[in-house]
Amino acid sequence: MDQTIVEIKKMNYKFGSTLALSDISLEIKKGDFLAIIGQNGSGKTTLLKLILGLYESEKSQISLFGENLTEFNSWNKIGYVPQKAIHFENNFPATVEEVVEMGLLSGKKNPKIITKEDRVKIANALKEVDMLKYKNRRIGNLSGGQQQRVLIAKALVSHPEILFLDEPTTGVDTETQCKFYELLKNLNSKGITIVLISHDIGRITKYVTKIASLNQRLEFYGSHEEFCAWDKKHSHAKSHTHNLCPNL
Ligand SMILES: Nc1ncnc2c1ncn2[C@@H]1O[C@H](COP(=O)(O)OP(=O)(O)OP(=O)(O)O)[C@@H](O)[C@H]1O
Ligand SMILES: [Mg+2]
Repeated sequence: MDQTIVEIKKMNYKFGSTLALSDISLEIKKGDFLAIIGQNGSGKTTLLKLILGLYESEKSQISLFGENLTEFNSWNKIGYVPQKAIHFENNFPATVEEVVEMGLLSGKKNPKIITKEDRVKIANALKEVDMLKYKNRRIGNLSGGQQQRVLIAKALVSHPEILFLDEPTTGVDTETQCKFYELLKNLNSKGITIVLISHDIGRITKYVTKIASLNQRLEFYGSHEEFCAWDKKHSHAKSHTHNLCPNL
């Protein structure tokens, strides 16, 4: 039950001479709903990309599902919604259904054929985010929040065990944001582990089970309650957390 899905040991990462991450050690367990917070440039996106094996170096310090990243190839277990994924041009030449289909094709070997079972998976993923009725619409003609739901369906279609989302609610209205967090909570209650990068710390706390605060180093990693206690002792971090721990 207490399966470790992501394990990082004493990892550093530099872009040229810029140190982006320093001495990061972290475990993400099955069923966690983890929020990664931290100011602009604190290394959040870099950490996610390293976990996803998108940078060649530093793979040896990272394990996924108990396997070193240098060996790991079960990428169908992982869903990813990148930062800045939103904003398709109006006439982007793909329907909602085709965008979700891409989430299946990337995991297939040639020939890349969509089967009947795949159609069912696509319909189910769209249903999950309440977008099935839009399946034949052009993705570029949908609102930002609707496009985002489709991108989540794309990440969900291969039935991932863990879902990584990098600031998915930027530019989305408050009501849609709340619905979106409810959707993530619902997925989490079905057993999907969720890792969410967000600046929206005031709103996310009632959904998440763990918080990681980054500032090149991992300043804090633990439960919400532990975070508030930690924050009380570290007044320098107060400015970004007064919403998070309103009773302090
Ligand atoms: N491709 C790159 N080349 C060089 N430096 C980079 C690159 N990507 C990120 N950096 C630098 O690494 C540091 C961490 O960047 P990162 O994108 O991880 O921050 P972040 O916490 O995601 O910020 P934001 O909240 O703005 O998205 C920053 O100093 C950034 O300028
Ligand atoms: Mg980022």
